[in-house]
Amino acid sequence: MMLRKLRWVSLLLFISFLVITPSAFAQKKSIEQRIDSVMKLMTLEEKVGQMNQYSGVWEHTGPITEENNLLGQIREGKVGSMLNINGVAHTRELQELAMKTRLKIPLLFGQDVIHGYRTTFPIPLGEAASWDMTAIELSARVAATEAAAAGIHWTFAPMVDIARDPRWGRVMEGAGEDPYLGSLIAAARVKGFQGKGLGNLDAVMACAKHFAAYGAAVGGRDYNSVDMSDRMLWEVYLPPFKAAAEAGAATFMNSFNDLNGIPASASKMLQRDILKGKWKFQGFIVSDWGSIGEMIPHGFVKDNYEAAWKASLAGSDMDMESRSYINNLPRLVKEGKVPLSVVNDAVRRILRKKFELGLFEDPFRYSNAEREKQNMNDPAHTAAARDMAKKSIVLLKNEGGLLPLKKDTRTIAVIGPIGQSVRENLGFWSIEFPDSNYIVSQWQGIQNKLGSSARLLYARGCGIEDTSRAGFAEAVATAQQADVVIMSIGEKRDMSGEAKSRSNIHLPGVQEELVKAIQGTGKPVVVLINAGRPLVFNWTAEHVPAILYTWWLGSEAGNAIADVLFGDYNPSAKLPISFPRTEGQIPIYYSHFNTGRPALNDSDRFYRSAYTDLSIYPQYEFGYGLSYTSFSYSALKLSSNKMKSTGKITVNCTITNSGKLAGEEVVQLYIRDKVAQPVRPVKELKDFKKILLQPGESKVVQFVIDKEKLSFYNEKLQWITQPGQFDLMIGSSSNDIRLKDIFELIP
Ligand code: GLC
Repeated sequence: MMLRKLRWVSLLLFISFLVITPSAFAQKKSIEQRIDSVMKLMTLEEKVGQMNQYSGVWEHTGPITEENNLLGQIREGKVGSMLNINGVAHTRELQELAMKTRLKIPLLFGQDVIHGYRTTFPIPLGEAASWDMTAIELSARVAATEAAAAGIHWTFAPMVDIARDPRWGRVMEGAGEDPYLGSLIAAARVKGFQGKGLGNLDAVMACAKHFAAYGAAVGGRDYNSVDMSDRMLWEVYLPPFKAAAEAGAATFMNSFNDLNGIPASASKMLQRDILKGKWKFQGFIVSDWGSIGEMIPHGFVKDNYEAAWKASLAGSDMDMESRSYINNLPRLVKEGKVPLSVVNDAVRRILRKKFELGLFEDPFRYSNAEREKQNMNDPAHTAAARDMAKKSIVLLKNEGGLLPLKKDTRTIAVIGPIGQSVRENLGFWSIEFPDSNYIVSQWQGIQNKLGSSARLLYARGCGIEDTSRAGFAEAVATAQQADVVIMSIGEKRDMSGEAKSRSNIHLPGVQEELVKAIQGTGKPVVVLINAGRPLVFNWTAEHVPAILYTWWLGSEAGNAIADVLFGDYNPSAKLPISFPRTEGQIPIYYSHFNTGRPALNDSDRFYRSAYTDLSIYPQYEFGYGLSYTSFSYSALKLSSNKMKSTGKITVNCTITNSGKLAGEEVVQLYIRDKVAQPVRPVKELKDFKKILLQPGESKVVQFVIDKEKLSFYNEKLQWITQPGQFDLMIGSSSNDIRLKDIFELIP
């Protein structure tokens, strides 16, 4: 009797739960139900159509394949997504075509909105130098707001590839060499792009790319092979992807490279075992441009039929531009080579995002011309871009306190090929608009700052790449008329980026000779270096009193640079990647192993795991960046010098602004596991705090060491800790350690 009563009560409770509380479960169930109902109606060809993506004809970001009745294929339901379709008008036009298909399944529109749509932010490597997650998230938020207003549903960002070889042009697109910093930035960017969640009209789907280990291409040569141990993969290259997945990235993109002989598009280990299996990823994976078809030149398959076969079984859900799926998957299913369940799973994942974006309710909800206009010139966006840009500028040198410059300086000479450039400031992977009046050049920024109070002179001096010195005399003469010289040099905006690997990363052309000539006038010289990657400029580094690394700072570059030059912002950025002294020093990164014969300093000639003809140190190390003020570190205090793996150690230290200007410091915490099997790096970044201090002000900074910070993968890929001693290091960079202690992890 009692049991029957209990059953009735639980049944009533369950029904009330379903009826009265339309919970997320009920709502989610409705999306899954709705996917079911659509899929029940779809033919196999229509399903495969959802797995097919083409680029718009307006712009290409990859090798252009033959045209084949693109619009007709959309009309026939053979296309699920398009990329490189810019603007509300174009997206509406193609969506109207999709609405003429039998099932009216809406198209997805994707675009490389990497560091801004119209309001352009610093290149991602520059943003990474800010170590400011709030600013980085806001940058992605603004990009998403503008992109969504322009009809875009999906950005192919963030690129989260760890990169330790600046010869690789795409180092500009990521967050540098460190997995800890890279993971925080990956999460911040995903959250920024997706905002309050898909379905909000200012949210776009993020896409963590390139999965995986693309940044470790041999020789820094783009698209090249990657060969690494599973431990290195898990320890260094996968963490930012895991962080992106945990942050809710809606999609992933696989990569061009083969990983240990398996092209990523055909890697079941990466796509099914790790991402969809271990990490329980519910989104979908798009291939990179043509990467499924590129398995043929990889020598992994003999034709597109086999490429479609291997890639679909391995978990690539959508085929960008290779046409392997649309031309072969139906046959592969009919022949039993690819189970229908594989296609159904991919299509379900893709349709789920279309439902979450609200495209089935209203396929045109993102294609709103009024909203597009409203969002393109928002002063709040401009302010965010200027803030991000000034926080990205790294002060590399400031001998004699030349910077900040005085605003009452009478005559200033701007010298160099980038000083008056406009579009160059946008860097690679920026969206081109016909007008450029929204871009503030460095010349314009200085004018905006000083108004008519200063006399500004300009001389180009030389080109970026050409070897003509014909302009040197005029540049020297111009410099001689000035009280101070601001030089703006570097590489072209398209010298870093995709397919831009270079064997020579010295300052291009004769620019460093121009620096020598201008330095020779005896005038105070500030050099701005604009680049998408670390460059080599040893003479400048040694002889010029003040150097700012300005990356490519975007549409507010000029204003941000002027803010820093004239002291309205005290530079706070820290390098997210090591700068080599020469190409021969690559790869060089801070978290290296000690080896059996470590070089401890430059004079240590016998025991050295380095070169006899070069310093053991990079030109500038990971985490390096100066300020117009100075900071002292003191009062390091550990709550204990012993901890169990279940415990933790609280670490306190005091940071004081010992200078005359307010400034921000990135206080970095590194550890070293002194004895472990396998060996551990000489130091690893495990935490940092960016703090603002007024002149003379002190603050206590606190860190917590817990088991997670001490864990690593052993040779069996188990995530473990091992008892023993650890060095604890707190510093202003990876090579400027100010406070040290030792603690022990006890069993
Ligand atoms: C490119 C890039 C990828 C980009 C895609 C679409 O080849 O590798 O990062 O998102 O194609 O433009």
